[in-house]
Amino acid sequence: MQTGTAVQTLKAVLVGCGGMGSNQAKILSSAPDYRLAAVCDAYEPNLKKVSDAMNVPGYRDLGEMLAAEKPDVVAICTHNAAHAPMTIQAAEAGVRGIYCEKPMATNLKDAREMTRVCRERGAKLVVNHQRRIGADLIEARRMIERGDLGEIRLVRGQCGGDVLSDGTHIVDSVLFMLGDPEADSIFGTLHRELEVDASRKDHQRKSAEPKSADAYQAKKASDLQAGVRYGHAVETGSFGIVRFKNGVRFEIACGDMRESGCAYQDYQVIGTRGRLWRCGDRAEPNLFVSDAKGGTWEAGSGEFGYMPYPAKDGGAGAWRPVPVERERSHAIGKGYELLARAIHDGTEHPMRGETALRGFEIIMGLYESARLRKTVFTPVAQERFPLDLMIEAGLL
Ligand SMILES: NC(=O)c1ccc[n+]([C@@H]2O[C@H](COP(=O)([O-])OP(=O)(O)OC[C@H]3O[C@@H](n4cnc5c(N)ncnc54)[C@H](O)[C@@H]3O)[C@@H](O)[C@H]2O)c1
Repeated sequence: MQTGTAVQTLKAVLVGCGGMGSNQAKILSSAPDYRLAAVCDAYEPNLKKVSDAMNVPGYRDLGEMLAAEKPDVVAICTHNAAHAPMTIQAAEAGVRGIYCEKPMATNLKDAREMTRVCRERGAKLVVNHQRRIGADLIEARRMIERGDLGEIRLVRGQCGGDVLSDGTHIVDSVLFMLGDPEADSIFGTLHRELEVDASRKDHQRKSAEPKSADAYQAKKASDLQAGVRYGHAVETGSFGIVRFKNGVRFEIACGDMRESGCAYQDYQVIGTRGRLWRCGDRAEPNLFVSDAKGGTWEAGSGEFGYMPYPAKDGGAGAWRPVPVERERSHAIGKGYELLARAIHDGTEHPMRGETALRGFEIIMGLYESARLRKTVFTPVAQERFPLDLMIEAGLL
């Protein structure tokens, strides 16, 4: 392993060569702070595709790759339940940094353990909630801190998908915009409707990797129908209310409980003097303010979902775009750049494991509240995945 000075290139390896892994392999191979040395995947076709494209050796097993390559940094892009054990394995092997995909784990025990092991081993753990380093959210946080919206009363976040894999971005973004406050209480409710025959109750099945690329895609599609995603059970829709210790209320709606037509990762911040609306990832502009000054944009449905568009008659509306200085570099590339800095000079990474753990506890609190059918308070005691417990108890 390299021992560092600020100018050293970090030797990186990556595990999980699916959609996100192939994307991160490309980012890593062109990042000036890194040299991508090898990749790993248990499923041969995905492994071959990425190792051939990057022209690096491929391994079928993470332990083998760590032992042979002795990397400085490991990128973990496998399914969610593998994130914590692989993070622990890498930290115990002596790596200096881990760039782990979100969600950090699938239960609180694993999330707490991976954070503890990384802290004790001195490995920098980063969890890829990349919106946190996006220019739009940085501007939103600045406006909130400056008091442009008055006193913040309520924040709402919505997206399709499940709370664990998709809602995790909402929770993390909301935490970031509000300055990472501590949650006090969490209420959650959810439902899970399977479009699948009753014979498929194996929600935690660890089947062999499929034999062909078509079978791989088919497995992903049938998993979703079976109420499974990224290797763990998921719900169809969920809703939660979090009260932060600073008094702000946060409402989250995912899957089929979100407002119809809203964009993926739609956030609204409501204060006594104005509202901020971050209308998903794709629209440009995607950050709007509504206050006493008014604007010329009106909420409606269009190409990017339900959000403000220029008023048709050119007249007055309630919204105006917030100017945002966009970064040229890709957010994940920026995340890696900041990890290199954290390794070299100890600068705190905005997406560090401890911060992700705060959001993860909110997510697990939402599931646990739905299971207990009452409000839960932090610290959340339940260390297993409450959705599994509900399924095992025949509640879903
Ligand atoms: N941050 C984001 O915006 C974002 C976006 C999409 C996905 N993700 C996350 O990225 C991760 C991967 O998602 P994806 O869409 O690329 O999934 P995918 O199914 O396309 O790829 C996962 C890969 O991991 C491999 N794998 C699984 N278990 C393994 C093991 N034990 N050892 C080695 N390889 C193993 C699989 O064979 C597969 O190639 C997920 O955790 C997901 O939540 C994050």
